Amino acid sequence: MDTEASGENGSLVLIKQGAEARVFESTFAGRKSIVKERFSKKYRHPTLDSKLTLKRLNAEARCMTKARRLGVSTPVLYAVDPVTHTLTFEYIEGPAIKDIFLEFGSKGVVDEKMDDIALQIGDTIGKLHDGGVIHGDLTTSNMLWRSGSNQLVLIDFGLSFVSTLPEDKAVDLYVLERALLSMHSSCGNVMDKILAAYRKSSKQWSATFNKLGQVRLRGRKRTMIG
Ligand SMILES: Nc1ncnc2c1ncn2[C@@H]1O[C@H](COP(=O)(O)OP(=O)(O)OP(=O)(O)O)[C@@H](O)[C@H]1O
Ligand SMILES: [Mg+2]
Repeated sequence: MDTEASGENGSLVLIKQGAEARVFESTFAGRKSIVKERFSKKYRHPTLDSKLTLKRLNAEARCMTKARRLGVSTPVLYAVDPVTHTLTFEYIEGPAIKDIFLEFGSKGVVDEKMDDIALQIGDTIGKLHDGGVIHGDLTTSNMLWRSGSNQLVLIDFGLSFVSTLPEDKAVDLYVLERALLSMHSSCGNVMDKILAAYRKSSKQWSATFNKLGQVRLRGRKRTMIG
């Protein structure tokens, strides 16, 4: 094996620069990995800022680990470094659901694959919610499709928190509904399929769906005002 390329301290290749995090591709103990670095927002007070960054980092690590324990497929967390504000994860090979849906939009939907994906999305969120974890950023960019096993992998727990309130679960679903409507309207009604799977997966679906109705109404009112 090439020891150079599989060294502990693999080089970092930037793949995404966001407003609060940078994401790199690297190697960890010889394995392809993702390094996510949270950085400070310059306009915040430095000490307060460092505390908030660490709080977020720990929350992300904790929620992701908790999700895994609930049977949700997430990348393996390799390391947490509070000094450099980084998390190191297993690298997932495969496209984002966003790219699959965009291709469905341009080339036509592959029904069987769409049904499989929607089922796994609904089932995953149901498990997560019943375990009291709210993802906080359910978009199709934060869902990967593992090549080979065709398994949905949920990523980006940067806005996640623990809650058992139906309201929080409903807002989580609503964020996804809006994202699907704005990005993937040509894919047909994916949300209905996702909700059907969620209903089977979550024991508390009824309270959540009730709230979802209210959250939608509120959203509509806000749109009319804005
Ligand atoms: N484990 C992983 N395997 C493969 N690719 C990944 C992995 N984690 C992240 N990525 C890629 O990096 C991108 C950014 O990662 P992520 O969504 O965690 O960060 P972000 O959106 O910048 O974070 P935040 O919303 O917390 O600011 C993802 O959309 C995905 O393309
Ligand atoms: Mg993301």
